[in-house]
Amino acid sequence: MLDRFITLLKKGEVVAFPTETVYGLGADAQNPDAIKKVFETKGRPSDNPLIVHVSDQKQVKQFATNISEDARKLMDTFWPGPLTLIFKKKPEVLDLITAGLDTVALRWPKHPLSQELIALAGPLVAPSANSSGKPSPTKAEHVKEDFGKDFPVVEAGETAIGLESTVLDISSEPYTIYRPGAISAQEIANIIHKNVEYKSTKSQETTAKSPGTKYTHYTPDASVQWLKENPHIADNTLYLLHSRTISDGKNMIQYEGNFNKMAHELYDRFRQADHLGYTAIAIEPFSDDQYDNPIVQALQNRISKAIG
Ligand code: TXA
Ligand code: MG
Repeated sequence: MLDRFITLLKKGEVVAFPTETVYGLGADAQNPDAIKKVFETKGRPSDNPLIVHVSDQKQVKQFATNISEDARKLMDTFWPGPLTLIFKKKPEVLDLITAGLDTVALRWPKHPLSQELIALAGPLVAPSANSSGKPSPTKAEHVKEDFGKDFPVVEAGETAIGLESTVLDISSEPYTIYRPGAISAQEIANIIHKNVEYKSTKSQETTAKSPGTKYTHYTPDASVQWLKENPHIADNTLYLLHSRTISDGKNMIQYEGNFNKMAHELYDRFRQADHLGYTAIAIEPFSDDQYDNPIVQALQNRISKAIG
């Protein structure tokens, strides 16, 4: 089933494939022309580095140096899975991948099709398979919406998590999370018994070290906002509610405390809101105790970015 895609990747073409987080736009991590096509296809600024996707721990040595005991523990615990680790890079890693930084981001995704594809045609660089400025794709049809109906996509339905991986810099201490995801600072700290920092995405230092955080993220045509205490209810607003109920109606999406489902659907709801002509998306804010849940931290981060 993957033959066609493996052939394309080996020829230096780009191919979209599913991971457990979102669909990725894959290209051979050793082929500069293929990597250039990734930036062109997405319209991605060249100063925003890419994650290299591997299919076992051995491949890490091709890209990273100073692979510490902590790194081993984290890979043993969380890989394959939604954790991207940033290492000091080997000199031979292409500058195109790292945008000239002295670090490289690596991840071993969990989806069986991604593992097979990477094992046979990888390692692969893979940003999320959306045009720059659109939400990450959680369905094959999202990729085709952005890149055209004939674009090569390994189709595998909806991705499980729906939000991108946690990005953790372990190239220097204190270890720092640049992007929260399904694996939290607390879970990481429990494994390595060290404090893990999570800097707000607006901090200057994060911007310098993780270029991706400085770009404006997808804001739908509809204006995204936090739901107010006593909202004025409008038919042309889409409501995403995790705990409250307001009224019935097709514009009232109720998650009833199921934050994983909310994460799974968020980007699809953003795309749908525009297709259906909603002018606003009102999202119920999270309380402090809900914020203890890692996926709520990731939701908060993506929603805040969409609000701008
Ligand atoms: O879940 C995911 O991580 C998905 C799937 C496809 O694996 N990929 C993904 O890639 O979200 P992308 O390119 O959309 O986001 C990667 C983020 C960007 O914010 C980028 O700036 C950051 O990781 N990044 C990559 N390499 C880095 C490095 N060496 N130092 C700091 N940040 C880095
Ligand atoms: Mg992305």
